[in-house]
Amino acid sequence: METYKVAFSSVLMMLVRVVVMMGLVIRMPTTIEACFGGGGNSGGGSLRVDAYQSSCPDAEAIIFSWVVRAVSDDPRMAASLLRLHFHDCFVNGCDASVLLDDTEMFVGEKTAAPNANSLRGFDVIDSIKSELESVCPQTVSCADILAILARDSVLLSGGPGWEVQLGRRDSLTASKAAANNNIPGPNSDVATLVTKFQDVGLTLNDMIALSGAHTIGKAKCSTFSSSLIQGIGSGGDGGGDSFGSDAPPALNLDFLSSLQHLCLESGNATLVSLDLMTPATFDNQYYINLISGEGLLPSDNALVAGGNAASVITREIVEGYANDPFIFFQDFKTSMLKMGSLKPLTGNNGQIRRNCRSIN
Ligand code: HEM
Repeated sequence: METYKVAFSSVLMMLVRVVVMMGLVIRMPTTIEACFGGGGNSGGGSLRVDAYQSSCPDAEAIIFSWVVRAVSDDPRMAASLLRLHFHDCFVNGCDASVLLDDTEMFVGEKTAAPNANSLRGFDVIDSIKSELESVCPQTVSCADILAILARDSVLLSGGPGWEVQLGRRDSLTASKAAANNNIPGPNSDVATLVTKFQDVGLTLNDMIALSGAHTIGKAKCSTFSSSLIQGIGSGGDGGGDSFGSDAPPALNLDFLSSLQHLCLESGNATLVSLDLMTPATFDNQYYINLISGEGLLPSDNALVAGGNAASVITREIVEGYANDPFIFFQDFKTSMLKMGSLKPLTGNNGQIRRNCRSIN
């Protein structure tokens, strides 16, 4: 039985590598740097693609097989797992701080406004971690699991593959305040979005490429319904389920009215696909939707709203991605690698948690 499991893992890993390599070759980056986020710009100097080659060679195959299972049970899980990596990396770096549970003595990030009743997938991570602990105890970090899950989720949804930089360690702490402050809210205008990305070391272009993750997954009516009901936003960034953007985008009226009906009739907790056209496929449809006035979140629509110099630039980039899925995939990979390299804990910093929900 054990032999079959290992053989199955190896076959899966070969499959991941083949698909990733096909992605690298077919989508032809002009340089290796184009694939790996421009080398030195990431700050994640000591991360390596072969960090577990000898210490836990089946790690990526084990993780991939769990993602296959989780996504076939619940297709939305791909989106939820991808989002976890973003919410981890934006809060003091990619250190799995987002996975720590609250205790009587400790407040983590799970109850922060952008995360509460919203982040999903913690059980999938528990299952993965538990199997990894039995195969290679205290070797594979929870932060690396999140980075691999994000890649696998994109790949399984039809998006690009990339080789994940590994070797992060897990934090000993978390910050609810930083989660509230650093993660942009759905009502953010372009200036706020750019600032929040720049604050962690990412550019305007990274922000637009990474927003393309909204080509999969769902959002609750509460994250966008007020602006639909009001028709226009009122500015400002509440950081949670509140609304307003710097200029009213030209929303498609039929789209607007169907969302208004749905949310009014079914309530604020109702889930709507972020990309109504191809909801579970990782493609460039998100950008096409924005141009046709069918973006869901006010922060998505702000990218094409125009009205000031920054919005003119963001609109041009959105148009570029809408016209050329190849360039979107390239930029998405590059920006994911940059995001995944934000302030990793390496060397003797942090620890390898035995359980991703608590420190050892
Ligand atoms: C640019 C600023 C961003 C804002 C304002 C934003 C905001 C949001 C909001 C409000 C939701 C819906 C949450 C809910 O209803 O519970 C959501 C969902 C999602 N976000 Fe973002 N997001 C941003 C960027 C990103 C980035 C950079 C990624 C990943 C690289 C990402 C990936 C996702 C995914 C995949 C979902 C769907 C999750 C699911 O279905 O479980 N987002 N986002």
